[in-house]
Amino acid sequence: MSVTPRLLLAPMEGLLDARLRAVVTQAAHYDWCVTEFVRVTGTVLPARCYTRVAPELLNSSRTGAGVPVRVQLLGSDPVCLAENADQLTQLAPAGIDLNFGCPAPTVNRHRGGAVLLDEPGLLCDIAAACARAVAGRVPFTAKMRLGVRDASRAIEAAQALADGGAQMIVVHARTKEDGYRPPAHWPWIARIAEAVPVPVVANGEIWTVADYLRCRSESGLADVMLGRGAVADPLLAERIRAALRGEPAREPGQDWVRLAPLVIEYWQRVLGHVEARYAAGRLKQWLNLLRRVYPQAEHLYRQLRAVRENDEVDRVLRRECGTPGALGVAA
Ligand SMILES: Cc1cc2nc3c(=O)[nH]c(=O)nc-3n(C[C@H](O)[C@H](O)[C@H](O)COP(=O)(O)O)c2cc1C
Repeated sequence: MSVTPRLLLAPMEGLLDARLRAVVTQAAHYDWCVTEFVRVTGTVLPARCYTRVAPELLNSSRTGAGVPVRVQLLGSDPVCLAENADQLTQLAPAGIDLNFGCPAPTVNRHRGGAVLLDEPGLLCDIAAACARAVAGRVPFTAKMRLGVRDASRAIEAAQALADGGAQMIVVHARTKEDGYRPPAHWPWIARIAEAVPVPVVANGEIWTVADYLRCRSESGLADVMLGRGAVADPLLAERIRAALRGEPAREPGQDWVRLAPLVIEYWQRVLGHVEARYAAGRLKQWLNLLRRVYPQAEHLYRQLRAVRENDEVDRVLRRECGTPGALGVAA
């Protein structure tokens, strides 16, 4: 087992967009992150569709902090996905990932995401067509769940993806029917990893260092992809690395001083990119996860909960996070 595991930042549509990726990857380093999915249905998407989801493509496919950004595709037609993979490859992403995990009914109704796990033949065709299109120019990976209703075909699905040419598989250890309900079934990841000839990365329900260590022991894998846990605690990757070096754990509250400026930076990025009426909602969405870990975020969330006006959000943020002696520093 490697001493310095690969830690990846998960794709999360509607939550972890380029703005949040920018600040979360400033807080801690990741080996790479993956964008929200780009849905492919019948046409070759123009470059602007890719740079909208992954503006990092205009920055050598890296976040401002230098973390490589891979772009995720979702679809079910091997030919169309391959044509888009070729188009996307020309934009030089840090990698291309295929989504076989999305449980959203609208996506699944159109035969996209996790429902395809019941069709290993199609999984293999999609992976093979995309691998041919990418032709080794950029890394090519896939992300899957354990199955649709149960895990009985999980190994078959993973083997199909590897046979098709996926160079690495991230396994979110739940079925589509499980949704996001705990637990994640980490021992299943061990079975899959034993059965495929490509590296496997464990994903699901890692919120703390203790979760990471349990996942590592149950999956047998050190490499993990962090999702909601990394948004709730942007220093989680750093805490995991510190624990593996044998350093004592820090109370998250002590670290708020590092996060407060990032909350302000995120707010500024949101104001610059998101329609004004949605801006406060985006900030509160992040704070709602941060408050699971940081008491100061709970305080801030309460101050902002009823606030609708962006000017007022601004005032509260500057009061609570922005000035020496305020929440950010006093904690
Ligand atoms: C709001 C949200 C959006 C997500 N969007 C995507 C997506 O676009 N592509 C994908 O492969 N997985 C997506 N996922 C799944 C996550 O990448 C990850 O597999 C899942 O959240 C389990 O990891 P976690 O328990 O660490 O959050 C999403 C999850 C959430 C909560």
